[in-house]
Amino acid sequence: MADEVEDCEQFLCLFAQEHVDFRISELLSISSMFGFNVRFQSKDHRKENPHLLICLPNQECARHLLSRAVTIKSVYELWGHGNNLTEVKNSVLQYPAHKMKPFSSSNSTFKISIETFNKKLSVSQQRELIDQFEFLPFEGCVNLSAPDHVFSLLVDYGDDPNAAPPNPERLFFGRLIGHGQRHLLKQYSLKTRHFIGNTSMDPQLSFIMANQGQVSPGSFVFDPFVGTGSILLSCSHFGGYVMGSDIDYTLLHGRGRSSRANRQGQWRARDENFKANFTQYGLGSYFVDVLVADAGRLGLREVPLFDAIITDPPYGIREGARKLDANTELQESASQDETPFCSAVRGCRLSEIVTILLELAARYLVLHGRLVYWLPIYRPGYSEELIPSHPCLKLVSNSEQCLSRHVSRRLITMEKVKENKLEDPLLSVVQQKFLDSCDNFRDNYFSQST
Ligand SMILES: C[S@@+](CC[C@H](N)C(=O)[O-])C[C@H]1O[C@@H](n2cnc3c(N)ncnc32)[C@H](O)[C@@H]1O
Repeated sequence: MADEVEDCEQFLCLFAQEHVDFRISELLSISSMFGFNVRFQSKDHRKENPHLLICLPNQECARHLLSRAVTIKSVYELWGHGNNLTEVKNSVLQYPAHKMKPFSSSNSTFKISIETFNKKLSVSQQRELIDQFEFLPFEGCVNLSAPDHVFSLLVDYGDDPNAAPPNPERLFFGRLIGHGQRHLLKQYSLKTRHFIGNTSMDPQLSFIMANQGQVSPGSFVFDPFVGTGSILLSCSHFGGYVMGSDIDYTLLHGRGRSSRANRQGQWRARDENFKANFTQYGLGSYFVDVLVADAGRLGLREVPLFDAIITDPPYGIREGARKLDANTELQESASQDETPFCSAVRGCRLSEIVTILLELAARYLVLHGRLVYWLPIYRPGYSEELIPSHPCLKLVSNSEQCLSRHVSRRLITMEKVKENKLEDPLLSVVQQKFLDSCDNFRDNYFSQST
């Protein structure tokens, strides 16, 4: 039977088979933002498997998860589960009748669908499975196109798509609560975005970052390495007011050559700029401003100002990390083709960029505000103690996106847990190790066949 746990209900999350390392942290971030707890039911859950049994206080919490998550495809109210068909049927038979009743009356329609993982079933095989659930006390009519209630049998053929066993490893039966926010990936696709650059952030990862930052209506969000503003678009979709800065005047003003594959070498159109993207998605009212500034010399009054700092710093691989020489003021270049400030900026080490970022978070975040950023990692030398720490910031999560056998980037989420005092040491003791490994990243990246 679907095990009932006191004060909570069982649900099944069906995740998309992408960015598997981000699933749990996104789920926990959303639940803590809405103020409820998630209990995990399967202790032996493998992170590659898309089915996750969870306990939530009620169905409303499941809807909160669905209102934000992009790693979740759907959530089901669990009616039963088992390792074979007999077990799942017996489990459903024990589901309390009073809980089935609201969804089985004669004045509501329904349909049962089959969702398989790692194996395709023919229509007749699916029908055979559906027929196995004829015992359910449904009194209403079947409606395949617009049913009032959707029930699904989720059939799991294991994690290896090349070696699916003849019989399923697990089956789940549940009532569909709803779908997550994966439609946003198409809506915000870079293919149809007005203004993009070489390092525009992928929409799915941008939305994951906004969820890690717990951006909610009225949040004030800052991206100090804003580029084309992709991350901020996702933040404003969730109701955050956004502001950014970047050292590159050309990019912020949409000058220079287009990054689109089919327009290589051509000038950007006059309206191809940062602000046009916000207008494209109807988010203009959430756009506060962008500054042309070195993140290390922002020039803003140092007060807790932002609810979240969410960013993708330069690693020096596709785009240079740069820094203003002391005493140099930013000036607009005379010609459109000229890279402005080239005399004013010099190469900046990755460790400097990360140090700047942690300091910005300690100074400008409100208490309990979040810092979310990508950290490039040379995988053979990685250990968790190399994640940078700061006395004012607590590590909340650390998820990996593999880019190759040797290189990955980690999405680091930190929470500001105490106010910054000037006498606090800049960085803690483990930092030296981190700084060294950080500065070796570029050499390692180029020296390995990846
Ligand atoms: C990885 S890109 C960010 C891309 C951005 N997330 C987007 O979606 O377009 C890093 C950005 O940092 C900027 N940058 C490099 N050094 C900087 C500095 N010292 N201060 C501020 N911005 C800097 C670069 O101009 C570049 O636009």
